Amino acid sequence: MAGEREFQDFVDEVTQRNDIVEVISEYAKLKRVGSRYAALCPLHNDKKSPSLSISPDKQLFHCFGCGAGGNVIHFIMAMEHLDFMDALKYLADRVHLPMPERGSPSDRKAREEKMDKKQRIYEINAEAARYFYRNLADKQGREAYQYLRERGITNATIKMFGLGYAPEGWTNLLNHLKEKGYAEHEVFEAGLAKARDNGTYYDAFYDGRVMFPIINVQGNIIGFGGRIMKENSNTGKYLNTPETLVFKKKENLFGLNLAKNSKAGRMLLMEGYMDVIALHQAGINNAVASLGTAFTPEQARLLKKYSPKAVLCYDADEAGRKAALRAGDILTEQGIKTKVLTVEGAKDPDEFIKAKGPEMFQVLIEGARPLTAYKIDAIKQNYDLNDTEQILEFAEAAAAVLAELSSGVEQELYTKQVAKETGVSPETLQAQVQILKRKQQQVKDRQQEREERRKFEERTGGRRDLKSMGIRNAERLLLSCMAEDGAVRKKVKSSGLLPEDFTEGLHRTLAEKLFQEDSNVEIQALIQEFPQEETGAVVAILLDDKNTEDKKKAAEQPLSTLLDAKRQQRAEALLEQGDLDALDQMLKDKRR
Ligand code: UTP
Ligand code: MN
Repeated sequence: MAGEREFQDFVDEVTQRNDIVEVISEYAKLKRVGSRYAALCPLHNDKKSPSLSISPDKQLFHCFGCGAGGNVIHFIMAMEHLDFMDALKYLADRVHLPMPERGSPSDRKAREEKMDKKQRIYEINAEAARYFYRNLADKQGREAYQYLRERGITNATIKMFGLGYAPEGWTNLLNHLKEKGYAEHEVFEAGLAKARDNGTYYDAFYDGRVMFPIINVQGNIIGFGGRIMKENSNTGKYLNTPETLVFKKKENLFGLNLAKNSKAGRMLLMEGYMDVIALHQAGINNAVASLGTAFTPEQARLLKKYSPKAVLCYDADEAGRKAALRAGDILTEQGIKTKVLTVEGAKDPDEFIKAKGPEMFQVLIEGARPLTAYKIDAIKQNYDLNDTEQILEFAEAAAAVLAELSSGVEQELYTKQVAKETGVSPETLQAQVQILKRKQQQVKDRQQEREERRKFEERTGGRRDLKSMGIRNAERLLLSCMAEDGAVRKKVKSSGLLPEDFTEGLHRTLAEKLFQEDSNVEIQALIQEFPQEETGAVVAILLDDKNTEDKKKAAEQPLSTLLDAKRQQRAEALLEQGDLDALDQMLKDKRR
């Protein structure tokens, strides 16, 4: 069991052995710029000019686009969506260092409490699932059981998915879980109870629903979907567990606990729980669905861990087609090869299988079109290709799709194909594609600029007037010089400027820490003292390039700016109080 000191030493060793330049180069293409490296930031959608900057000397990174920044551990936390300990483990594994027993007793306690809380929620969910499942076999679950059977679901499938029934009533589940020793507030934290204003609780699923446990890849039940049986209910057809400590609906996929073991080499992405269940029942074991929201980039990244290919099997209606296109772009952006399947003669995969059987669905899967072909086909429907004018309109609309492709090979292939279909020469079409590409890029650049400006203003507390902007910049410049040079720190300390004179919370905190440092500043240790949300802003200050080796000289101007501001503030205060003697004295001091 390592104490605080040993643990800190371990963190230092992991940080030292994992060179930040090497680690980031596994995620982005780096370019050397002077003493730094630059890259398109892999932490946000950075397509234009590289906004990520890495300092090999200081072993820090900062992105002026998304504001992220810190050391190599912070980078892995952001990149791999890990908490500190898991990022540390990731990097320790990378250099083959075994993890020590973790942290100080108090750290361990906090961590264990959080783990316990998660564990407790998993237990509550498991107990709730058992309760729901048993209800299906009971008298009170008769109608729900019949409902599932009428929808063609077998007993084996009910068991495989652990389907169940939450009967009507305000406290059925609460009573059951209380008997099992769980407190009401714990059931609330699991998302299975709601709180009233008067402090009492009631079941979240109180209106009689068929229950679908949602299970993560580790096999824990993280939440539930519940379907009402009456079609004309006013409470929503499906109701899901709200976000909890363990249920993040944007980051999980229904059915992935089963599909992850599939050997099919691709994942089938469906819109609904029932579609996933119908496919598994039909022996197609690679179906997953998002959890009652549109498909997200997080879900795409999760899918990618299990398969490099996906087939979209969305509903046959207009909404389904639109959702498939959006999901297709998200999958493509994460580097997943995507095809789109069109359900014909049924409203969704579930009904298709029921009407035509699993073999016919296999045929649909084999006939799925690559996303680009699908997009072009979809456009083609809108034009009459016997009419010359409409052929040209189609060619232009198709060129817009082609211009969005990031793969040159794909672009060439489809350009040739559209050229053939329309009789337009490939060269002409290609020229049109290039024009559109430039235009699209300009629009995107402008969007990104706006977004970055917005984020910057958000971080810096909005637009400022010139004077306060000047003071802010002076503070930052001074702080970065102080971090680099002990002589600057000494000079600032003797100048009369105090940490509390700094105008922003973060500047004050950083100043306080630097005012305390006598010997060399350990930047890695310093950055570690800040919470993760703040490391980006701190590194932004520490890496701000002063274009100068002579920090003492660089610090002169900002120090005098800040001292002037301080004096002026004091003068104004004295004037306000009418203390003219003190004011006079102050001005004399200044002249000296
Ligand atoms: P669908 O209505 O297409 O789902 O909604 P389905 O699974 O085919 O439903 P039925 O039982 O056959 O009629 C697709 C998905 O959208 C979410 C659910 O996750 C559902 O599976 N959804 C739908 C909700 O979260 N709330 C709703 O009210 C409806
Ligand atoms: Mn359906």
